[in-house]
Amino acid sequence: MPKLIVTTREGETSEIQVDDGLTVMEAIRDNGFDELLALCGGCCSCATCHIHVDPSFKDKLPAMSEDEDDLLESSDHRNENSRLSCQIPFTSDLDGLKVTIADED
Ligand code: FES
Repeated sequence: MPKLIVTTREGETSEIQVDDGLTVMEAIRDNGFDELLALCGGCCSCATCHIHVDPSFKDKLPAMSEDEDDLLESSDHRNENSRLSCQIPFTSDLDGLKVTIADED
């Protein structure tokens, strides 16, 4: 199973195995990281699933939609590596992806 490496806001890093068909948000949430609220359940309307993604994986990520871009614009913690984790299906191409949960707005 492909793995995802998650760093929390407190700087703790863990490695999780991800089942097929999950988004990065679902993988993080289902592994007990409560600080990723994902309030809208993945509908791209809350921005509480904001993460920072390892820039070396940038080319492998799906393009950002206008909605995702607009929502991220509302965050004070946006940087060039920001994405909404519910908008990234986790595929085997992303094996070893490192993400950090963004600070809460
Ligand atoms: S879970 Fe709400 S935007 Fe991702």
